[in-house]
Amino acid sequence: MTPLEHILFGKKITSKLEKIHTYHETHLLRPENPAREESLKIGKSKFPQAQELSTLEGRVKALHSFASHELQAIELMSLALLFFPAREDWEKKYKDHLLLALDDEQRHFKLYEMRIKDLGYNFGDFPVNLHLWNKCKNITTLKQFAAVMSLTFETANLDFALHYALYFRKFGDEKSAHVLEEVHQDEIVHVAYGQKAFDASLEHENNFFKAYEKELPFGLTPAHSRGGKEIFDLKGRKKARLTDDFIKQTRTYPRAMRAKSSS
Ligand SMILES: [Fe+2]
Ligand SMILES: [Fe+2]
Repeated sequence: MTPLEHILFGKKITSKLEKIHTYHETHLLRPENPAREESLKIGKSKFPQAQELSTLEGRVKALHSFASHELQAIELMSLALLFFPAREDWEKKYKDHLLLALDDEQRHFKLYEMRIKDLGYNFGDFPVNLHLWNKCKNITTLKQFAAVMSLTFETANLDFALHYALYFRKFGDEKSAHVLEEVHQDEIVHVAYGQKAFDASLEHENNFFKAYEKELPFGLTPAHSRGGKEIFDLKGRKKARLTDDFIKQTRTYPRAMRAKSSS
């Protein structure tokens, strides 16, 4: 198996953190779930509210949830590189970017894991979920992947990273705040590339937002691309070159709107 395949099919965390130098499409069967060590319990894991960061356990749980997101991002980028075809020029360029982003996600995971250790815990001390992975189960194209990964998950993470950095600092954990700020800076680049790739994928569609909304799978709406009404990183979005219309539409998209059915 290649190192890239090891990320998805290997159970060990260490095999998911090895440097990947190149990518290729695979003939292996697409897995239902990424392979994981048995000790990493899949179960209910609730992201702590910002106020819960006042306790050590609350801070560790937040770092643990962020680390779990990074792990899923690593696995999802491996999935995209291995299984989604790249025929068009923009798709090849997007994959080149995903290879670099994968390296960032591996570094982010290590940074969170190190902070968890510094605070006296280990990654795996709490259950993790496959929330991000599960939303991507029916994705088969890089266009959908750009919509979901870059324009939804990573865009929302601009908000969460800044918001939680603020609360880590408020409760005296400067080091964790720094990690979140580093992740935030990289996320701007990831969102910028996703927006560029998605824009390049448009052929007859002339409305970026409508095309984006159409690509979202069942269970996701444009409201998922923001942290919340009071948690909205406008500056980061502008730096990532998201258009004013896209920013406005995603900011105001009703949270309660039912997710469209899959078709
Ligand atoms: Fe990341
Ligand atoms: Fe990212």
